[in-house]
Amino acid sequence: MAFLEIIDLSVAYQSNFVVLRNLNLSVEKGSFLSLLGPSGCGKTTTLRTLAGFLSPINGKIIIDGKDYTRIPPHKRNMGIVFQSYALFPHLNVFENIAFGLKMRKINKSEINQKVKKAIDLVGLTGLENRLPSQLSGGQQQRVGIARAIVIEPDVLLMDEPLSNLDANLRVEMRNEIRRIQQRLGITTIYVTHDQSEAVALSDQIAVMNSGKIVQLGSPNQVFSNPQKRFVANFMGFQEIASGVVEELQNEFAVVRTTEKSLRARMTTQLNTGEKVVLCARARRMNIDRRDGENKLPTQIISKIFQGENISLILKMPNGNSASVEVEPSQVEDLSEGDRVFVHIPQDHLLAIREEEE
Ligand SMILES: Nc1ncnc2c1ncn2[C@@H]1O[C@H](COP(=O)(O)OP(=O)(O)OP(=O)(O)O)[C@@H](O)[C@H]1O
Ligand SMILES: [Mg+2]
Repeated sequence: MAFLEIIDLSVAYQSNFVVLRNLNLSVEKGSFLSLLGPSGCGKTTTLRTLAGFLSPINGKIIIDGKDYTRIPPHKRNMGIVFQSYALFPHLNVFENIAFGLKMRKINKSEINQKVKKAIDLVGLTGLENRLPSQLSGGQQQRVGIARAIVIEPDVLLMDEPLSNLDANLRVEMRNEIRRIQQRLGITTIYVTHDQSEAVALSDQIAVMNSGKIVQLGSPNQVFSNPQKRFVANFMGFQEIASGVVEELQNEFAVVRTTEKSLRARMTTQLNTGEKVVLCARARRMNIDRRDGENKLPTQIISKIFQGENISLILKMPNGNSASVEVEPSQVEDLSEGDRVFVHIPQDHLLAIREEEE
């Protein structure tokens, strides 16, 4: 059994508004799992249920073999980091971090020692006496993290802790979070709707949609081998065509589209005759002047200079538009309105079942 097990968990607000439906998840001790999904899919609800602020209508939460489902929040020993830092404005950095230890009636010298260690770990040494209002956003979030880890929690829960920070600081802080988590080996559940954050931080990513986990896997599995249409779209793939599986060749499917047949990689086993969508990333497609295998005819709708590369917006045979990112030198002679072919190498073209279960 894994360290943390969520079994058939269903959670509702009021009695009839079910937000989580039979959610199952297991997290190994010391590992970092991200819940990744769009706004409203139930990420915060999952965390609040784990923390004990919401009672499930069904299912169980097991931590280290013990049933936590009905245990009140203050007896769960979980560290929580929120999006809004939620620091006490009238307490200084030291006192904010020490708060949870004081509540646990730990003696003064031990509190001093633990808080010092936490302050050192998050890089706030020297700022012990500042009030939250005298700190930057990144520093405030470091206090939030220190406060959560100082109690030596069994599980660390983080709900979009970086979303209030600017882009550069977000990248810096996410590296910090990974470093701290690995140093302490705390089992962590991290909520985000930012795929790059989830990919950079996690051992495992659970992609959520409408209260369900639609795919669970390593960052590479979720990023490169989405198994469902929703996951592919959410991870940045574009649907460039749809068609029917004609033939199977090992991990590849030959897919008949309205235009022609293309070879695409399967991320789940498909059957001949199944309807699929063909998905590819903008950076994995190339422009070609001549027709050939795994190429589709398109027309350039617009050409956008992006600094290092050029983004071409193409009109695909099915009427959808798709973008391709290429080196400027490859498309110097092309302009809006031109008809060209787009080549999608078979390894980078995914065939994914059209129907969502
Ligand atoms: N206190 C509440 N009462 C009723 N409905 C709620 C409550 N809190 C959340 N919901 C609803 O439950 C669903 C899931 O909300 P939740 O906050 O878990 O989503 P989320 O995935 O965290 O989204 P976001 O990325 O926007 O934070 C949404 O439809 C939301 O409107
Ligand atoms: Mg949320």
